[in-house]
Amino acid sequence: MIDLALGVLMLVAATMASAQPVEAHLIVTQDPAGPRIEPTVYGHFVEHAGTGVYGGLWVGPESNIPNTRGWRNDVVQALKRVGVPVMRWPGGCFADDYDWRDGIGDPAQRPVRRNRWWGGLESNRVGTHEFMDFAEQLGSEVYLSGNMGSMPPRAAAQWLDYMTADDTSALAQERRRNGRDKPWNVKYFGVGNESFGCGGNMSPEHQADVHNQYATFLWSTTRVASGDGEGDDNRVEVLMKRSAKQMDALTLHYYSVPDNWTKHGDATGFDAGAWARTLKAALGIEQRITALSTIMDKHDPAKRVALYIDEWGTWYDTPAGASSLWQQNSLRDALVAAVSFNVFHAHTDRVKMANIAQMVNVLQAMALTDGPRMVLTPTYHAFDLYRPFKGATPLKATLRAPAFSTGDVELPTVQVSAARAADGKLVLALVNLHPDRPARVTTNLTGAAKGQVLTAAAMDAHNTFQQPQAVVPAPFSAKPGSQGLVLELPPKSIVVVGMQAMH
Ligand code: AHR
Repeated sequence: MIDLALGVLMLVAATMASAQPVEAHLIVTQDPAGPRIEPTVYGHFVEHAGTGVYGGLWVGPESNIPNTRGWRNDVVQALKRVGVPVMRWPGGCFADDYDWRDGIGDPAQRPVRRNRWWGGLESNRVGTHEFMDFAEQLGSEVYLSGNMGSMPPRAAAQWLDYMTADDTSALAQERRRNGRDKPWNVKYFGVGNESFGCGGNMSPEHQADVHNQYATFLWSTTRVASGDGEGDDNRVEVLMKRSAKQMDALTLHYYSVPDNWTKHGDATGFDAGAWARTLKAALGIEQRITALSTIMDKHDPAKRVALYIDEWGTWYDTPAGASSLWQQNSLRDALVAAVSFNVFHAHTDRVKMANIAQMVNVLQAMALTDGPRMVLTPTYHAFDLYRPFKGATPLKATLRAPAFSTGDVELPTVQVSAARAADGKLVLALVNLHPDRPARVTTNLTGAAKGQVLTAAAMDAHNTFQQPQAVVPAPFSAKPGSQGLVLELPPKSIVVVGMQAMH
């Protein structure tokens, strides 16, 4: 580990010697820029797709792969380290074709169904009891994604009763017979998923009415309406107008794709153009958040209804032979995560939850597995670096940094987020988006800064089972000089530092 950190530092020094740094200036003030960063902004999404559940998270209690009641110990341990505040389950598109009754009772008696959206067969071996055990192992809140597309409202209401009733009603008794005495806490309940598409292809007006009908029967939980995922402001307008009273949150789905939805682009082996297009797409989430917030402000000026970005991340082409939605994860993905976090921090008045898609082996994953092997991705390390931001209060930070162009794509060289952490420390996250040039960031700060840097020599550097530490954080520190604190950022890097004194 120490050798590796040294290697990264040598690489940083070598690159910085060869290219002129971009000059930037940062001013951080004590003024809060919004309410606190909810830890749930660092949430996750688990869908029954590919090897996202079976193999990636669940191996079954009889497996030789070390597990606790079926859940992989290696993955659970890694996830516990970064902390999982909330998990959305069981989909995605899968959720609107899911009958919760298929996943309770004797596993041997559970029906095998076709996985309509992601292919293969669904054994239902992982159902409500198993998933809630996983959540308890992680210490995570749960966000259940209810079926509004193909089941009646009574099914959703009964699922909630089955899980949360603490009386002698038939559903609570059935849960007890199935091995769980104490009710579970279901903090969040999704009323459908992508109702504009795989959740039923509903018009906005129809969705709003159906939403109201379902939400009427869902009590004692945060009712989450499926919102936008295709750049449709009108749907958000209609939902806010007709259904705001029947929801506590509305969702945005946002995927960053380098090319287009027919040919997404490759996860590795890409050029500087694809690097720039992916990061440009990732930064574009801010426009959608602003657009949705503007509509929400009009109908809900008190900001009672939260905005949940309950699916976000990169989406590349699945390599031939890989399981559904599998993709490699490189340094580029870590930067996508970091710039997204920085955007979320700038919109804490509405953005109260975000769930990266998805946890393991699917899209922008935290870990990849193959049989007994597991490797942590650069995205995992980005989550690790940003831990001090959970629960922190964002501060006003003004950055003067030049833009740079790759073809016709223009990007800011540096992007930043500053916050006052729960322990009173100032935390700074800086992303250098330039693939080749370091950045020298002068600041109005006078304290010493200490933290970590995530970078690598290649844009598509990634961890493999053979080389699990190709992209790992290294220590980073900077001492104030006569000009105040100056932060030297390597090309294509994320730096997160904490400091005691501010000015
Ligand atoms: O995350 C993969 C899929 O993307 C989800 O199932 C769906 O909601 C979205 O289109």
